[in-house]
Amino acid sequence: MAQTIITMLKLPLHEFPRINIAIDGYSSCGKSTLAKALAGKLGYSYVDSGAMYRAVTLFALQNNIIVDGVVNEYRLIQELPNINVSFAYNELTKMSDVHLNGTDVEKEIRMMDVASHVSAVSAIKDVRKIMMAMQREYGKNKGIVMDGRDVGTAVFPHAELKLFMTADVDVRTRRRLDELTSKGTFITKEEVLHNLTSRDYADTNRKENPLTKAKDAILLDNSDIDQQQQLEYVLKLMMEHVFKNKLETSK
Ligand code: DC
Repeated sequence: MAQTIITMLKLPLHEFPRINIAIDGYSSCGKSTLAKALAGKLGYSYVDSGAMYRAVTLFALQNNIIVDGVVNEYRLIQELPNINVSFAYNELTKMSDVHLNGTDVEKEIRMMDVASHVSAVSAIKDVRKIMMAMQREYGKNKGIVMDGRDVGTAVFPHAELKLFMTADVDVRTRRRLDELTSKGTFITKEEVLHNLTSRDYADTNRKENPLTKAKDAILLDNSDIDQQQQLEYVLKLMMEHVFKNKLETSK
């Protein structure tokens, strides 16, 4: 058996048995950066589950379902059959963009207005039920890296690799501020900090599938490591734990 493992560990990454990787954690921890890098290395699909909740929030904003910052839950639930969220490959960016009723809204969903209301929308049970059913469908053939808040606890409780990411709040604020500024959004550091902390609070304290670390998730604090170090660490984890365990249990 040991020999098989050693032989297997020498395989090119894309020849390993396909697994699902769940990445959860606080806002702006770099979950999507890591998820995209992993998916690229492994030849997996990346699914941004937060983008789905953001698309529903955009619909609510566009259709006056959010008025004076308050989500009209009853109307949103009534409108759910008219909200179609999907992903489509973007040839230019070589990434999947989220679409709302057939329109690419990848840019719009990153706006602050959406960020300010998405936690309230994603706390609604009926919204989560529909999004979660789609997310599970994406993962049914394995080979998915999905990031979000409840991927390891609720969407894929049996994912073979689960990570729970965190980083110092000042580091997260600076990263998010740099990202928004580079895209031409004018925003203060205080506004970014407020958005991050209030979303974390709401996401952690909601009733439906709150953000929490799954018991079997590996904690990853990336405050002091760069993206390359992080990727190498996670790939090493996969080799050492996941595939070894998989082989040993299939003995
Ligand atoms: O990952 P993100 O910041 O784009 O997510 C936006 C919001 O969507 C987040 O504040 C909470 C919600 N969300 C969720 O409730 N469950 C997920 N699996 C992903 C995101």
